[in-house]
Amino acid sequence: MTDVLLSESRRTDPATWWRQAAVYQIYPRSFADANGDGLGDIPGVVSRADYLAELGIDAVWLSPFYPSALADGGYDVADYRNVDPRLGTLEDFDRMIAALHERGIRVIVDIVPNHSSNLHPWFQEALAAGRGSAERERYIFREGTGENGEQPPSDWGAAFGGSAWERVEDGQWYLHSFATEQPDFNWDHPDVRADFLRTLRFWSDRGVDGFRIDVAHMLTKDLTEPLPSRAELEGLPHDGNHPLSDRDDVHEIYAEWRRVFNEYDPPRTGVAEAWVSTPERRARYASAEGLGQAFNFDLLVADFDAAQFRTIIADNLAQSAASGSSTTWVLSNHDVTRHATRYGLPALEGRPVKQGVEWIKAGGPEDWIDREQGLRRARAATLLLLGLPGSAYLYQGEELGLQEVADIPADRRQDPAFFRGGEFDGFGRDGCRVPLPWTAAGPSFGFGEAEAHLPQPASFAKYAVDVEAADPDSTLSLYREALRLRRVLQTDEQLEWTETGRADVLSFVRPNGWRVVTNFGTAPFDLGADASRIVLGPVDAGSLPAESTVWIAPAGR
Ligand code: GLC
Repeated sequence: MTDVLLSESRRTDPATWWRQAAVYQIYPRSFADANGDGLGDIPGVVSRADYLAELGIDAVWLSPFYPSALADGGYDVADYRNVDPRLGTLEDFDRMIAALHERGIRVIVDIVPNHSSNLHPWFQEALAAGRGSAERERYIFREGTGENGEQPPSDWGAAFGGSAWERVEDGQWYLHSFATEQPDFNWDHPDVRADFLRTLRFWSDRGVDGFRIDVAHMLTKDLTEPLPSRAELEGLPHDGNHPLSDRDDVHEIYAEWRRVFNEYDPPRTGVAEAWVSTPERRARYASAEGLGQAFNFDLLVADFDAAQFRTIIADNLAQSAASGSSTTWVLSNHDVTRHATRYGLPALEGRPVKQGVEWIKAGGPEDWIDREQGLRRARAATLLLLGLPGSAYLYQGEELGLQEVADIPADRRQDPAFFRGGEFDGFGRDGCRVPLPWTAAGPSFGFGEAEAHLPQPASFAKYAVDVEAADPDSTLSLYREALRLRRVLQTDEQLEWTETGRADVLSFVRPNGWRVVTNFGTAPFDLGADASRIVLGPVDAGSLPAESTVWIAPAGR
């Protein structure tokens, strides 16, 4: 009992709650629509506060809800200190914070510092003020190449396809690492630095507990001329001096942010989305002098495979212990094919994410996918993940076992990646952003009164919250029970592997004796005496069935 109380206080301790939190990502435009315009909104989140409390999460992370023309699903921000009028008002936001805090749920918001929307007043001023103006200095404007400057300053490509440079009316070009409507900020400019400090204080003052930092590794750039070519860039090492990515000097920014976080009691927290080359480089973002935590996407890009899981888990725990932070686990988010779908597809080049892309591009053929297997593996992987030390980031809808929607007609798609190709390979990310089904009946499955902004397939009825809540064997019931037990069982941030004699069965034990066993294989695994202490997961005549996970209570409980 003592260790139960200990872990409970650690979970609720205002300074360390994030270390082993279960954080639920809300993509606000697709969560719940309270005003019936087909778009999810902040009052929609408030209306589902009890659902979130019952789910048993510790925090929500809200993807951008700021004013935006939605050129990139809200990651094109026109005003960093306001709420999109289609999603509500600042007063609605305050009501949401109060409703969640009342239920013991903390709130993390998304900060998008690499680029703004082209509709941001600063970018509009830069366009109006013309070349050579102080206003253009806040972004990255350059003259073109070629006889009349008609060629872009370099041959760099944007992540969503096409050139990373766009020409403006007077002939200059600006840099956009993502969509054309997302001009990159110049982080050497003091106005940019000061404005983001203001934004962090603005939301912290409103009671926000933490921040998720979008493409945190990209802010600082070395744009000394001559600019390197794309091929030259690809050949450069990622050692802290790369001109565009994961530069050492980016950490000066986060050190300053940390000082702002620490002005508050309790200190605010940060989690970096940093796509960097090694776990060591990722740890720099997660340091106590920096953002505090960084996403670890290793499981998200791994196969459902015991050896891969074991290596990833061991490496990340070692790394987080060395950095003093705690690690983060992610299987799904708003940028990738949902894991219940991914795991039903045969791995391609050893990467289920890659296979998800190919499947969607092919229109989601049914004969490629084994949906039952996908869901079985997804449940097994999630139970394993929720048993690990560190925090777990869950994406809205995964608690329903929701599937990716592959067959969205082109004229209903919204993601710039679908239209422009590029790094995301033209597959688009709309399929994991389709609004949630709350009821099996009714318009837009209870999402709202109107048709949802992305079309929901008829198959969503069987994943609806009301259907799953009534079924003790549903994925929702499994998540609720797992999150409830996790609060009791979560203990010190260590694990010890137990040998199972099978390469496809992983087993580990936490310091309080809580044991997690996952069978990645197809043959049942005999649990021996442990079978009598199972608190969660399937067991069949004393054995762990294929592709499943069980939690075993500490002995003597
Ligand atoms: C991040 C976001 C993604 C967005 C991109 C540009 O990767 O997760 O959704 O498109 O940054 O802001």
